[in-house]
Amino acid sequence: MASITIRGLDDELKQRLRLRAARNGRSMEDEARTILRDMAADQLLAGMRSDPRRMHAPRTEPSPEPTTRRVLLIIGGGIAAYKSLDLIRRLKERGATVRCVLTAAAQKFVTPLAAGALSGERVFTDLFDHTSELDVGHIRLARDTDLVVVAPATADLMAKMASGHADDLASAVLLATGAPVLIAPAMNPHMWGHVATRRNLVQLTADRVTVVGPGVGEMAEHGEAGIGRMAEPIEIADAAEALLKGDLRANQPLAGKRLLITSGPTHEPIDPVRYIANRSSGKQGHAIAAAAATAGAQVTLVCGPVNIPDPPGVKIVRVETAREMLKAVEAALPADCAVFAAAVADWRVAEAGRQKIKKEKGATPALTLAENPDILATVAHRKAKRPRLVIGFAAETENVIANAQAKLKRKGCDWILANNVSTQTGIMGGDYNNVSLISSNGVEAWPPQSKDAVAAALVERIAAALAGEAP
Ligand code: CTP
Repeated sequence: MASITIRGLDDELKQRLRLRAARNGRSMEDEARTILRDMAADQLLAGMRSDPRRMHAPRTEPSPEPTTRRVLLIIGGGIAAYKSLDLIRRLKERGATVRCVLTAAAQKFVTPLAAGALSGERVFTDLFDHTSELDVGHIRLARDTDLVVVAPATADLMAKMASGHADDLASAVLLATGAPVLIAPAMNPHMWGHVATRRNLVQLTADRVTVVGPGVGEMAEHGEAGIGRMAEPIEIADAAEALLKGDLRANQPLAGKRLLITSGPTHEPIDPVRYIANRSSGKQGHAIAAAAATAGAQVTLVCGPVNIPDPPGVKIVRVETAREMLKAVEAALPADCAVFAAAVADWRVAEAGRQKIKKEKGATPALTLAENPDILATVAHRKAKRPRLVIGFAAETENVIANAQAKLKRKGCDWILANNVSTQTGIMGGDYNNVSLISSNGVEAWPPQSKDAVAAALVERIAAALAGEAP
């Protein structure tokens, strides 16, 4: 499309154009284009009235040749929408052109005028807007972009995306686009933690939508804090830039792979109020699940009772006992790789009391224990549906390496991560870990590092192994 020079206009015309552009939420250039287009359409209509054969003449409007990267920013309706105005600037600083779509709810928080003034582009709001449909149309909007960013991505927008709705401009564009999609969720922590939002997030991750944030912080609601705060504009712009360069896709080495992870302790009931458990916090298993999801894997996390937040982008199956965990693990197969990080109780009470066991003077109840199934060994020895890579942990308090090597053989897994869980190491329940990776290739001592760092390193190794490189 030809560029328009506003400079040639006299002051009065310029002022009228400015006012008209402001009223319509467009840049002056866009307003001038719209006027010219309307004039051309009027002439065409006049011509068609005098020569009806021209009614079927094809429209030969050429598509603009993109010279810079084009971002379509969909602003959802949340208090974080004001940050999206800053995001427009951040994206433009990185050399992108930014077109904005505002949902109806977004317009309660920010105006099309503000988004138009900052982007220097026309702002789109309606699916059935006569001018925009004739002019650009939601299909063109969806196609003529290199990246779609949804910020803030509200719980409602995420739900619409996950189930493929198309009842407004934002959702219709999201359904029609072939460009990569980046979402920056923002919502109340309870909404973020709701099972429906978790389910939608798992679906969106499986649909190759990239997620940035949310972070922890104070919410707009008085006194509320937790996970749900939209990522900062600079983080979103960084993620957008990486996606535009193709870096994020390259950083998703587990894309298309299915991972099954166990985490946390199990609780084995003694009676309806008491149980046998251990000190596992689930931090290491959850960190592995989060790292695998970030690397693009489709992750099922089977977890025992824990008091830590669910990792984002992961399908969670909650269980209590070892037997429930085995059942859930088997139901989640097939998988390309399984990581058994749960601290499964080795024994359960053979006959758990149906009622609370009462104290009787002088009599201490004798608990008869029965051995629980070994989940790792069961999966590693499977003939059918054995994951290509089966990884266990060895929680030891003495002879760490020798015991872990024996476990590797006994359980039939491919790798084992050995760690010393003696009380003085602070590993069980703590944020740090010190593991050695043991395989048929030998023992590799990793430096002491955070559980997140161990997770990232392990995920890197898993990706290399699944890609066919030697472990
Ligand atoms: N594991 C399992 N099912 C069990 C016990 C353990 O899947 N019933 C898995 C753990 O998730 C871990 C590995 O086996 O990946 C080793 O667990 P660990 O507690 O170190 O060893 P145990 O098998 O319990 O042996 P021991 O208690 O004799 O050390």
